[in-house]
Amino acid sequence: MELLEAIGTRRSIRFFKPWKEVEDWKIQRMLQAARYASCQGNCGSTEAIVIDKKTYPQEKFERIIECASPFNEIQLRQAPVVIAWLINMDAWYKELVESFAVLFPARAVTAAHGWTYKILTESTHPRLMSFPRDKAEDLLRIEAGLAIANSQLEATELGLGCCLLATGRKPAEFPKALGIPENIVPIWLMAVGYAAESPGQRPRKRFDRLYHLNEYGNRLEEDQNVKQELREGKMIQPMAPLPGRDEELRHVCRMFGFNEDMPDMPKENIRELYKEDSIYYGEVPPGLEDKGV
Ligand SMILES: Cc1cc2nc3c(=O)[nH]c(=O)nc-3n(C[C@H](O)[C@H](O)[C@H](O)COP(=O)(O)O)c2cc1C
Repeated sequence: MELLEAIGTRRSIRFFKPWKEVEDWKIQRMLQAARYASCQGNCGSTEAIVIDKKTYPQEKFERIIECASPFNEIQLRQAPVVIAWLINMDAWYKELVESFAVLFPARAVTAAHGWTYKILTESTHPRLMSFPRDKAEDLLRIEAGLAIANSQLEATELGLGCCLLATGRKPAEFPKALGIPENIVPIWLMAVGYAAESPGQRPRKRFDRLYHLNEYGNRLEEDQNVKQELREGKMIQPMAPLPGRDEELRHVCRMFGFNEDMPDMPKENIRELYKEDSIYYGEVPPGLEDKGV
């Protein structure tokens, strides 16, 4: 799969085939993709526990489920693999000088940019070490995001689906449920498996509401020719809901014995979203026209 298509095809999967195992080599490839994401000073602070349901003790997994938001339980129960993404604070406070120094012999940083080993060890490093823990953690969360994004693109290329899962229900309990030491911060769980659904691409805010030219508030117009090229490259795909999505959901839920109702939202509020000046859509996708929206 080409990169553009992987970007466009990735979407959050919320129903998995519990009977279809995920090949170990695919998980390996996802983790390798994460490892090659960019990180400050090459610090490599993003770590992960691969929870393989085949071998993970059931009662330990139940403790993890208790920490996740209730709306994430289905994904956690169905996905054959769950990845717990973590930040290692020691990568910042204990190992950063070493990771950064690797960039010198690798000739990644140069004297032309002002780098000397003395500057690194006597100026840059002490400054970075002075950051309070919450600031360092914020920085490392960005790097974790980049690594996770890489892993999701690789998963998509391999025909797998993923969903990031919040674990805010019992924040104090979560590290204990995972059995991790103090220097490790758990950030997200990620369900990984084969999708039992085929949703369309999710709506995004309009381009010109997100991007500005030269000055904030000066809208950067969306280039329609570029957009057409991206459609051809399958980065931009038909927007959800695809025709037949409700029927798909009903059948999937029936198969698993879940509630088959559609999520409740008043029609007027839906109509608002599709208005000409909406920050989201501006056009009604084919799947909704026939529902009187
Ligand atoms: C950091 C992060 C946390 C998320 N947490 C959850 C979650 O707890 N449960 C869930 O179902 N989806 C979660 N998602 C998925 C988003 O809701 C999803 O991106 C959104 O539905 C748009 O769909 P898409 O990912 O298919 O494009 C999360 C996404 C991100 C980036």
